[in-house]
Order: sequence, then C-alpha cells, then structure tokens
Amino acid sequence: MEQEGRNTALKLAGMLFRGDTLSGERLAEVLGVSRAAVHKAVEGLRKKGFDIQGSAGSGYRLNAQPDLLVAEVMLPRLPEGCLGHGGWVHLPTTDSTNTRAAELARGGAAHGTVVVAETQTAGRGRRGRAFVSPPGAGLYLSVVLRPPLSPRDGFRLTLCGAHAVVDACEALGIPARLKWPNDVLVRGRKLCGVLTEMSADMERIHQAIVGIGVNVNTQAAEFPPEVAAIATSARVELGHVVDRPAFCASLLTALSAWYARALDDFPALVQRARERSDTLGRRVKVRDGHDEIAGEALDLDDDGALVLRTGKGVTRVVSGDVEPV
Ligand code: BTN
Repeated sequence: MEQEGRNTALKLAGMLFRGDTLSGERLAEVLGVSRAAVHKAVEGLRKKGFDIQGSAGSGYRLNAQPDLLVAEVMLPRLPEGCLGHGGWVHLPTTDSTNTRAAELARGGAAHGTVVVAETQTAGRGRRGRAFVSPPGAGLYLSVVLRPPLSPRDGFRLTLCGAHAVVDACEALGIPARLKWPNDVLVRGRKLCGVLTEMSADMERIHQAIVGIGVNVNTQAAEFPPEVAAIATSARVELGHVVDRPAFCASLLTALSAWYARALDDFPALVQRARERSDTLGRRVKVRDGHDEIAGEALDLDDDGALVLRTGKGVTRVVSGDVEPV
C-alpha cells in the first residue's frame, strides 16, 4: 500500500515535471488510482517542498521543485535506461554513501542503483582521506555497478566518473580538467574526487561502487582551512548558485554513456582523458605509500596508466597521488 502511494507520487512528479496542468480527475484516470490517492500524493509532494499550484478542480501545476536529490525530483530528469533507474536511495544524512551502497550491493541491489546523501559525516577519499560534505552544498553519490570486467580494469570506472563530472561542468561553461587518476580540477583547484571501491575475485568484479563527490554550491568559507587554498566549487567558479538536481541529472546521464563506452571502447575514454588532462606535459611527483617517483608526465597508456619519463627512463605508474614539482 505504502509502495503504491510512492509509485503514484513518483508518476505524478514526472507528469508535473513535464509541465502539464492536470485536474485531479484526469490524474486519477491516467494514474489508475482514486482521486483521494491523487490528493494524498499531491499533499505528500508539497510536504517534501514541491511548490504545486492549484487544486483538483482547477488543475495542478508545478511551480518549483525543492533543492533535494530525492527520487521524485531526480527520476523524472533521467532519460530511460540511465543509471539511477536501477534504484534510487536518498539519505538526508549518512556516514558515507560508498559504505551504504556497498551494503546494499551485498544485499543484491541492482546494477544502476544510486545512493545519494545531502550530507556525509564520514565521507572518504582515497588513502583514508576525508571528503568534506557540507549539507545541501555538494553532490555526494555512489553508484552500484556490476560490470563484466576483471578487477584490473577497475580504473575504467573511475575514469567514467571523472569524465561525467567534466561533461556536467562543461555544460555549465566551467572549464574542468582531469587530474590523474581520480580528481577533477578547475583552474588547478579540486572540484571533485572519485573513489571506486569493489569486491572481486581474480577474474571478475562482483560489484563496484563508484563514489563521486562534487563541490557544487559549496561556498569558499565552507571549505576547511587545510583545503581552502586548493578547493573550488561550481558556485565559486560561476559566481552564482547552481541547480543541483539538474547538475546531478546531467552527471548521471553522462556517466551512463561513458560506462557503456568503457565496456566496449575504453581507448576512446583514454584518448578523451589525454585531451582533458591537467597532468600530461607537467613535471610531477607521484607518491604511492612510501614510494615516490618524479618525472615528466608523458602520456596515458591504453589502460589509463600514467607514463612518466624519469632520470632512469620511461616508466608506467598505475596508482598514486600526483603533485606538480
Ligand atoms: C578523493 O578525493 O580521493 C575521492 C573523494 C570521493 C568522495 C565521494 S562523496 C560520495 C562517496 N562517498 C564517500 O565516502 N566518498 C565518495
């Protein structure tokens, strides 16, 4: 019964999002439910922050949606077949969406399930670093993927995430670049990080969680002092507030396309990464645990590994933190 109510609200949100003005009677007919059920769904959406004008008699019209990444706001914005239609879990707060998504995946969550939070209390990046996640300011989401890939190809998924963020930024006129292996930079400052975690056997990835954290509407003062000088957000870059649900939809639409491409034409992703790279052509230092190697970032190879020219020759690096020197 409750599920039925949720489905009605979702369908109603979709119809209103398309811009229709619809009477209660017409809605009841199209949705195949009673007028009382339509009324309940409208009130439920209003409680979530939807500004719905009108009444059953005069017809309902959507004036505005809330700035919340709930299913009723997001699913109507995603094209058919897009990641997110596999399942949508919205959490007002959580420790880490990657942790929640991994739990759901272990419990059988479908490929394409998205877990998104308004804030994270323990958002994490690579190497145990924290990802600061102030409420309502950013995009903190994790996608459950079940790719037909071996674990050594896991980097493909990280690259999909980073490309998708660059696409969503470019659509807003933000000149974003890729910092190998998992960051998106604007004017040299970090706007996004991607954290891919997976469970696999030697041959096959069972589940991969692609976690994407984007500073969308974060204000300069919200960054903690230790990252203030090296972080940015879409809002800081553009000088105005960004429509977070629209940004999220644009990102997931792009991610779906890159994911499909990563499975059958990964070299195309690498080629695009070369063109979008902030790393290539620079003298860099790559730190991986206790190991450090310095050289000129020459290229990405066909697996997406970084090719460096060091004092001892040309070498290939598969992981690490890059810093310009
Ligand atoms: C990095 O900077 O090294 C990666 C940052 C990844 C952050 C995202 S936010 C959503 C998801 N949940 C997490 O705990 N981490 C990722």
